[in-house]
Amino acid sequence: MNVDIGNALASVASPGVSKDSLERLDEHVADAHERIEGGMANAEHGYEALNLPRRTDPDEIRSAVEPVADADALLTVGIGGSALGAATITDALADESDTEAIYLDNVDPEWITGHLERLDLENTAINVVSRSGTTAETLANFLVVREAFESAGVDWTERTIVTTGEAGPLRELSDRHDLPSLKVPDGVPGRFSALSAVGLVAAEVCGHDLEALLEGAAAEAETLSGSLFDCPAYAYGATTYALDQRGAGVNAMVPYAESLETYAEWFAQLWAESLGKDDLGQTPARALGVTDQHSQLQLYRAGPRDKLVTFVSPGDLEDREIPETDVEDLSYLGGTGLGELLEAEFEATEASLAAAGRPNVRIELEGVDEYELGGLLYGMEAATVLAGELYGVNTFEQPAVEWAKKATRGLLGGGDFEEADAVAEKTALRIER
Ligand code: PA5
Repeated sequence: MNVDIGNALASVASPGVSKDSLERLDEHVADAHERIEGGMANAEHGYEALNLPRRTDPDEIRSAVEPVADADALLTVGIGGSALGAATITDALADESDTEAIYLDNVDPEWITGHLERLDLENTAINVVSRSGTTAETLANFLVVREAFESAGVDWTERTIVTTGEAGPLRELSDRHDLPSLKVPDGVPGRFSALSAVGLVAAEVCGHDLEALLEGAAAEAETLSGSLFDCPAYAYGATTYALDQRGAGVNAMVPYAESLETYAEWFAQLWAESLGKDDLGQTPARALGVTDQHSQLQLYRAGPRDKLVTFVSPGDLEDREIPETDVEDLSYLGGTGLGELLEAEFEATEASLAAAGRPNVRIELEGVDEYELGGLLYGMEAATVLAGELYGVNTFEQPAVEWAKKATRGLLGGGDFEEADAVAEKTALRIER
């Protein structure tokens, strides 16, 4: 990926960051890079994720999914980091796959039932993913899915792949039924695991090129260096950090391709869960170009000056011509392509924000394929790690998320967790109809 930070400079935007400030920040980037390199070399928790392009073995994944490689549909049962990386890849490349990829992350009973009733379970595979092997939503959904398979007379043990940690209830269950299983690599937190089996099992079942995904990520890894001016990922992480320091507390991620809508969701989790600590962090927002030009753009151009807009330009999309028309006012459209229109809208929107002095950054891809996606996922993970170093937070922990997990478990009688007491202590001020 390439990153263009020109519209984030103080000469263009407010809040913006001057080139001089970025040059001063670059000294901290160099220190952070040294720390990151050290963490990677020692396979430290979290930093190890940046080693995945050369550690992940596509053959191991291929052989585990072999029994279900012919599935018409793949139900991935996982949540957060155990689902969003895979969903980003398979949603982005959905047009190239004959396998429908469905992600059961929520525990909305009507939605789950809808999927289970609609699918031909005999030709459906189950991909259960949980690093801890204890997440209530994932385990509950798996039990429900299992039962649906049993009720339909389908042997779920023949249709299930498990990806989990070394130990825990899911590992126990997998061993008990002798299910094909893969291990979440040590030192790789959920939201940084897209380039491991966690993200790649679904990609493989959907027929995508794992080698190209990893090669794209490896090429991005090659760019990591001690200066933000030489490394697109660090340029993004450092610029967003600098803008946040200057008041851009919101980061709106706006890909200009339908296929990348899920990517924005993945990014939002990565950014929020990694950096939202110690009263610090930038709030991620999600929008989609061009659709949200007709909704959120008003706020981004004329609302409070507390935002950075990150555009993702997908590069050339396979175009579709707009037919000629004899309606005079529409004649400018005829003969051009929808892709050309999208590109023009993107450039116009970017320029409109710059003209209004609103900081924006452009991430450029050369198409939406495995190679580019691998680079994008890796690049944004590295950007997040760099930003975490600059903020001085523990990027790889998520105590607030764990707190809520314990409270839920306590409420359901799954153990004695003091976090559950907070529910009883809630203050209410209900206005009734
Ligand atoms: O990034 C994270 O650590 C979280 O979002 C987890 O991925 C999420 O809570 C699911 O956890 P698990 O994989 O243990 O089921």
